[in-house]
Amino acid sequence: QSTPKKIAVTGAAGQICYSLLFRLANGDLYGKSQPIELRLLDLPQAQDAVRGVVMELEDCAFPLLHNIVMTDDPRQAFEGVDAAFLVGSRPRSKGMERRDLLAANAEIFKVQGRAINEVAGRRAKILVVGNPANTNASILIANAPDFNPRQVSSMIRLDHNRALTQLARKAACGVGDIDKLVVWGNHSPTMFADWTYATAAGRPLSETIADDHWYKEVLIPEIARRGTAIIEARGASSAASAANAAIDQMRDWMHGTDGRWTSMAVISQGQYGIPEGLVCGVPVMCEDGDYSVVEGLDLDGFQKSKLDKTIEELVGERDALS
Ligand code: NAI
Repeated sequence: QSTPKKIAVTGAAGQICYSLLFRLANGDLYGKSQPIELRLLDLPQAQDAVRGVVMELEDCAFPLLHNIVMTDDPRQAFEGVDAAFLVGSRPRSKGMERRDLLAANAEIFKVQGRAINEVAGRRAKILVVGNPANTNASILIANAPDFNPRQVSSMIRLDHNRALTQLARKAACGVGDIDKLVVWGNHSPTMFADWTYATAAGRPLSETIADDHWYKEVLIPEIARRGTAIIEARGASSAASAANAAIDQMRDWMHGTDGRWTSMAVISQGQYGIPEGLVCGVPVMCEDGDYSVVEGLDLDGFQKSKLDKTIEELVGERDALS
């Protein structure tokens, strides 16, 4: 059997990880013949809760799960890893200003960026899930100068998957039939689910659905508000679907998209007027363990205004930290 792949997961005692860890241990990322080692990072006060999750992982007797490491030390968690899911972050507490929330998370991702810079495998893929995910990823990149910034992305796939299902329902097609959907921008209510290029079985979805009002007044705002709707209905935030999206994004990034588009938030090199250094949701294709941004798309006035709004928010988050 091959050497186990080392996967670090932060926020291991949290809600998302209560789904994510079991999916990883089941082989949902690397497939059914690749053993794995899990490195679970959480705060010192969460170690008891992590121990409980580890007991449950053990009780599943996953054949592929060769080892589990529990730690509160980022360097130990990231040492030589092949992949890392950065899920742990500081939630907003009562009375906390947005600026303080950004700063508290910037501190976490600064520390983790430095540790990744020093000890992670040079080909490791780092997926930031913890919010504010895009800005946390920018901070991480800025603090990991010897680590390839293209090996870091933040999660926009949950928004992408949410939009896929709503579009497939409306067009009465399968989610797998849809290609060229794009979710642009920040993982926040400003993100923009864009159907302009989307097709189902080769036919433009905008023609099949032929309902511009639904697109602009229902789809886009509903995807933007979906997280809130889930909290209202469930009394807790999306966790299993977030874990699923994290695996989808990492798996496509590692194993490729077969010429299809997906959405990933990656460091900007200035495409589409997105300032360099921001981590922003864009259309990508993945091949050979790397992504390429789909370039050269013509954006109309509506798309530009939506993109400008979400970029403005990302710039605001960056500026609030400087
Ligand atoms: P949770 O509150 O249940 O768990 C967070 C865990 O992170 C806790 O166990 C906490 O102790 C840990 N943690 C905090 N600071 C840490 C640090 N410095 N190092 C390691 N662990 C640390 O939260 P949940 O529901 O699991 O969500 C996690 C994050 O994912 C949140 O920020 C949430 O907003 C975000 N999220 C992002 C999505 C996206 O699409 N990008 C979608 C859904 C959630």
